[in-house]
Amino acid sequence: MTALEVQCISKRFGALKAVDAVTFTVHPGEIMGFIGPNGAGKTTTMRICSTLELPDQGDVLVDGISVIEEPRAARRRIGFMPDSYGAYANTSITDYLDFFARAYGLSGDLRRQQVARVIEFTSLGDLVEKEISSLSKGLKQRLCLAKTLLHDPAVMILDEPAAGLDPRARVELRELVKALAGLGKAILVSSHILTELAEMCTTVTVIERGTVRGTGSVAAIARGVTTKQIIFARALTGPERLERTLLELPHTSEARREREGVVFEYAGTQDDLAGLLAQLAAAGLGLVEFAPQQVDLEDVFLSLTEGKLQ
Ligand SMILES: Nc1ncnc2c1ncn2[C@@H]1O[C@H](COP(=O)(O)OP(=O)(O)OP(=O)(O)O)[C@@H](O)[C@H]1O
Ligand SMILES: [Mg+2]
Repeated sequence: MTALEVQCISKRFGALKAVDAVTFTVHPGEIMGFIGPNGAGKTTTMRICSTLELPDQGDVLVDGISVIEEPRAARRRIGFMPDSYGAYANTSITDYLDFFARAYGLSGDLRRQQVARVIEFTSLGDLVEKEISSLSKGLKQRLCLAKTLLHDPAVMILDEPAAGLDPRARVELRELVKALAGLGKAILVSSHILTELAEMCTTVTVIERGTVRGTGSVAAIARGVTTKQIIFARALTGPERLERTLLELPHTSEARREREGVVFEYAGTQDDLAGLLAQLAAAGLGLVEFAPQQVDLEDVFLSLTEGKLQ
């Protein structure tokens, strides 16, 4: 089942196409990273998913419910953490959460339970009497996440939740997000910090100038995307023949001898690479080592957003 289904949404601001036929899906328990340069359309997409903005075209289904046709019902299933939020009132953590729990229509024991539950989940228990204005940025962020969880949404949409956090607060946030996915929530999280997304996310969607450039697992996207890799290979018949054979095959360049083998540059897709390895193995060179560096999110991102290699 799909928890968040973004169906070909578009949004213009005047002449600017901020979001252009964006489509992707997030399943329960999945953490999808949403990455793209400044102004790519991430926040606009997330605001449409959260019913805060209407698309010009397309629709978003939250747990099967249309944000256009039933925005109120969709909103009950969404927890949206915006990238910036207004000034906090001078209240304690408990009062603040209690206020929003009322706003979500929770009452009596259920409201008290939910407030206690989110405080425990975000480990804010020792601080509940503190004035919000005195909290550090990281704690404010955790409080904001707690607020987002009060109505137990199935889909979480987090816009740059780690921005401005120190390394420890980042790790803590990451663990919280993973725990939420473990509870079966579908999570869409935007960030500029690729290493952080790579550690946290199961899938990614790359967006640039309003258009999705790739969506899925990093490995799946890399299959069809040209990336640059450095590869070491060694054959029993020695480096000369190997080097010559390599340079005759597509996507290879810059070969040099090293450790009785050959180091070379490779600029093709992962599907191409599988073909290259098959051809090398069939060439009768006695291939005994073939070690490409791992393609990571950064390679894929760079290739997709400046992807003029092909
Ligand atoms: N309310 C608005 N009115 C006019 N233009 C807007 C509005 N909201 C967004 N835009 C424009 O739409 C484009 C996409 O903006 P958006 O905030 O979605 O990008 P983003 O990917 O979230 O960027 P960032 O990484 O900087 O947060 C930008 O060019 C932005 O200036
Ligand atoms: Mg943004």
